[in-house]
Amino acid sequence: MDEIIIRRPDDWHVHLRDGAMLEAVLPYTARQFGRAIVMPNLAVPVTTSALASDYRRKILKALPDEKAFKNFIPLMTCYLTDETSASDIGQGYADGVFTAAKLYPANATTNSAHGVTNINALNAVFEKMQDIGMPLLVHGEETDPEVDIFDREAVYIDRVLTLLTQKFPKLKIIMEHVTTKDAVDFVRTQKNQVAATITAHHLMLNRNDIFQGGIHPHLYCLPIAKREVHRLALREAATSGDTCFFLGTDTAPHPLSDKEASCGCAGIFTAVNALELYTQVFDEENALEKLEGFTSLYGPTFYGMDLNEGHVTLVREKFRIPGSIPVSDGSSIRPFKAGQTLGWKLKY
Ligand code: NCD
Ligand code: ZN
Repeated sequence: MDEIIIRRPDDWHVHLRDGAMLEAVLPYTARQFGRAIVMPNLAVPVTTSALASDYRRKILKALPDEKAFKNFIPLMTCYLTDETSASDIGQGYADGVFTAAKLYPANATTNSAHGVTNINALNAVFEKMQDIGMPLLVHGEETDPEVDIFDREAVYIDRVLTLLTQKFPKLKIIMEHVTTKDAVDFVRTQKNQVAATITAHHLMLNRNDIFQGGIHPHLYCLPIAKREVHRLALREAATSGDTCFFLGTDTAPHPLSDKEASCGCAGIFTAVNALELYTQVFDEENALEKLEGFTSLYGPTFYGMDLNEGHVTLVREKFRIPGSIPVSDGSSIRPFKAGQTLGWKLKY
């Protein structure tokens, strides 16, 4: 197969940031995807429907004028805190401002200092979300400093998610950016209630890659890449045709100077060639016929949304990923696999 046509995909997990960074990265997501779930972890987090409306306006304003970008729909999320109000969440969802809410355990990742410290403080919020069918998106990592960084996802399943699914059996939960076989197994046993997004980089990296011949700050993200056995479990899950696994890039741009630093930020920027990266993985797994389900069908179905109109075409063609993406404030961003060659290209 040298050409594939698939229904226009969606990205169910992106970080678009704001200001100059937003302008630099948005076109890459908007030209490939019909819709994207926009994560709310700005420096001032998007904790209310009013803030989400403002942020959505900024995103729409930052879209380039050409037609190829104008149909893009940003789907907004609410950053949950211990103080989130069930009525604001409910109203935001009813008004079409919020699509979902994001649970960051406090200090689990970039800009999560305002995240949830006590999950029981959110019982009324979860009750409300369950009633109205609003999905809960979870950064599933235990933040207890005693827990080893490579075990944080598995421990979070045991300590939090198992109980949460029992307590709120009708609450739709999406485990974001899963990185372990433990998560794949958990999602499969709960598949009427729980789904998961899988990033392109977690399908391509194991933890050895981060340290191959020296430390690679551009391969550092959270949750951190795990052992090879976990990467293989993710590849099996993504290409299995199981409807509980779908595309979410977790593209997370940071200025180069914040990545190449004595304490570098977590996040991998995959938006430039996201769809090509996934296509390459499905091709390597001889599963190109399963690509469209993962990229374009299972996500909207789990969210209860229509499929996108229109299609995109990928061709088997070698091309080089750019080494650097400039930002108008003078900084730059290094894409995942910068300067390397991919075997599939999206036709524009
Ligand atoms: C994300 C970011 O930079 O906002 N970083 C990351 O490593 N994935 C936050 C997140 O999704 O955890
Ligand atoms: Zn993320």
